[in-house]
Amino acid sequence: MTGDDRGDAALPDEAAAHRGDAALLDEAAAHRRELAARRAGDGMRDGFGRRVEYLRISVTDKCNLRCVYCMPAEGLPWLGRSEILTYEEIGDIVSAMAALGLRRVRLTGGEPLVRKDLPRLVELLRAIDGIDDISLSTNAVLLPALAVPLRDAGVNRVNISLDSLRPDRVDALARRPGSHAAIFEGLRAAEDAGFTPIKVNVVIMRGRNDDEIEDFARITMDRPWHVRFIEVMPVGDNLGISADEYVPSFEMLERLRRMGELRPVTGPAGNGPASYFQLDGAAGTVGVITPMSHNYCDRCNRMRLTANGRLRPCLFGDIETDLRTPLRAGEPLEPLIRRTLEIKPERHHLVQGSAIGSGGLRALSQVGG
Ligand code: 5AD
Ligand code: SF4
Repeated sequence: MTGDDRGDAALPDEAAAHRGDAALLDEAAAHRRELAARRAGDGMRDGFGRRVEYLRISVTDKCNLRCVYCMPAEGLPWLGRSEILTYEEIGDIVSAMAALGLRRVRLTGGEPLVRKDLPRLVELLRAIDGIDDISLSTNAVLLPALAVPLRDAGVNRVNISLDSLRPDRVDALARRPGSHAAIFEGLRAAEDAGFTPIKVNVVIMRGRNDDEIEDFARITMDRPWHVRFIEVMPVGDNLGISADEYVPSFEMLERLRRMGELRPVTGPAGNGPASYFQLDGAAGTVGVITPMSHNYCDRCNRMRLTANGRLRPCLFGDIETDLRTPLRAGEPLEPLIRRTLEIKPERHHLVQGSAIGSGGLRALSQVGG
């Protein structure tokens, strides 16, 4: 069910015609326009005409790893239990947005699988009219136990973070011994559960893992993985990385090109911000995600919901709308959602080297990267 046929409640035309109520007729006309827009799949448009139909939902700010580009070793000041949206509250927000045109959601964190009973949230979201795609970004550590229940609950696709193929490096980058073995078990569990395509996210950092670009690309010759190299972003104010560890995507692509012909391909479903390429004869693809060097703001189709119920129209910057307080007060969310959409910025203004370590931006684990 697409949900586009929802909202066919009786139009107030007839009653209005009887009473000659101009205001009511206007209201009816506006209602019809809105219905027509919904039927045309117009969805939510922001102030720049971009259709927003994708929501990334952070279900927790906590994580069982401590990746150097994401969290300080000692962790962050975690949100309290009552600050975090319940699954029912997340469902209420997604329902309100689905009525406006939201179609796809992705569960993120922190690490989403550390939140208890995640399959229950998936089931709840799956039942919302209009939501036709549920995906998950995970570090894979807890997938051995959860891949099958999540698939059965209705997760369509998973993205897995893996920053190195070398055990010692994975453990050092994630700052947890045993991470490598756990992540690979999780990857296998995802494959066994039939999650395809598997997207693997690799954050590239100079001197830490940039010498593995070719090794990751070689893996795509045999495995149908979609490996996406990500430019490291200057978010969070106490990270274990410095500005000179940034590797621009053109450098990554240059290295890939030296391996052989790189054919541009459409890439897997989910049409995110990556550009994809295929090496000759490869089973999978390689891609680059370039938040820093070429921003993709003009195609941005998404908003984010933080674990404590703030709706963020852009990953960067401080704009956010508190939906939790009005939700708990029983107030309608729709006007707030529309307002947030209207103020979605045209683009972000991150400049390489400007903000790494300088504070201000919240870690991705806090904003639902
Ligand atoms: N730069 C780039 N990507 C990041 N992620 C988290 N922090 C950063 C950062 N500073 C991404 C990684 C990880 C996902 C959870 O978020 O891709 O896989
Ligand atoms: Fe956890 Fe993902 Fe952040 Fe690593 S990048 S610390 S796995 S939330």
